[in-house]
Amino acid sequence: MKIELSNNKVFFEKEGLKKEIHPFWLRERVNEESFVDRATQQRLFDPTELKKNIEIKKLNLSENFLEICFNDGVKTKLAIQSILKEFSNINDIKFIEKIKWDSSLKNLNYFDFKENIFEEKIMYDALINFYKYGFIIFKNVPVQNNFIVNFANSIGSVRRTNFGEFFNVKSKPNPNDLAYTSLALAPHTDNPYRNPVPCIQLLHCIENKVSGGLSTLVDGYTVTEKLKKNFSDYYKILTEIKVRYQFIDKNIILEDWAEMIQLDENKKFKQVRFSPRLDFVPLMEKEKLELYYSARNKISELYNSDDYRIEFKLTPGDLLMMDNYRLLHGRTSYDANEGERFLQGCYIDYDSTEGKLKHLQRKFNL
Ligand code: OGA
Ligand code: ZN
Repeated sequence: MKIELSNNKVFFEKEGLKKEIHPFWLRERVNEESFVDRATQQRLFDPTELKKNIEIKKLNLSENFLEICFNDGVKTKLAIQSILKEFSNINDIKFIEKIKWDSSLKNLNYFDFKENIFEEKIMYDALINFYKYGFIIFKNVPVQNNFIVNFANSIGSVRRTNFGEFFNVKSKPNPNDLAYTSLALAPHTDNPYRNPVPCIQLLHCIENKVSGGLSTLVDGYTVTEKLKKNFSDYYKILTEIKVRYQFIDKNIILEDWAEMIQLDENKKFKQVRFSPRLDFVPLMEKEKLELYYSARNKISELYNSDDYRIEFKLTPGDLLMMDNYRLLHGRTSYDANEGERFLQGCYIDYDSTEGKLKHLQRKFNL
């Protein structure tokens, strides 16, 4: 990619194609102190109030800078590097390639917690792994009640839900969710009925004295790719039919319609939702429903199969952070008479992890 000039016009050349850069685009990027606030990088002028017919009066290109005089009298010196940066999104989170995994995964992405970790390079490494594998586990996180909220707010900000700012996962009387029993929880995603669905779940183990209650994780991305390759009819219907997910208790009714496998605008994996106790498929033709039910059975079989699920025990001080759009999680059953099993959980959204990752990237020049 390079910048070229001709007849008071600026061109960029990319992959053999030469295109003019709109003079207004350059005028908007004038970044001298009187035009842009240094600390926030916010404009001190309103570009919608500039005259429309901005033209370039004088241009000079050196190795590192582009100097421009515009017809409204403004002069600027733009770093070539900063212009080129806008044409490459190399630092974009989407360019962190997902690593598909299955039950053979051995590395559980453990990272040692220490005070101030949120501002250290190790947090950057942890977040990169989070984007690659969809989960990470911090060890030795202080087992103080409520520490999870501190933790979450040190990465970004807690995403509060009707379960509260954080929730206690333990067996209790009259539960409003099966999570608060000692029953096994098959692989599921959390809160599929919420709009938007919370992106990331944190689970912090405070106590775990039972022999069961193992945590389980499945890579929904791996399973989706398997389905796409080997059961394309099932993949197609699960990416097309929107189903209704619902949650009802005495205080609230939450509902959202979405595909079980949601694709982005480029037909690439975006999100899975799976919680077969609270999904309702719309009434469709019998043949279509037949196909839909077979597809749901197949994806459930894959999610629950030993081929894809990893199982491990969370011990006090472990904090599991997982992508609720990509991974499914669950637990094996346990006997509440054996002792206490107590986790605290909360959610954050992608802007938290993205914001922190980009901040650390800037801080450590990565
Ligand atoms: C949950 C959940 C798993 C566990 O609270 O959403 O899935 O290990 N808990 O108890
Ligand atoms: Zn859950």
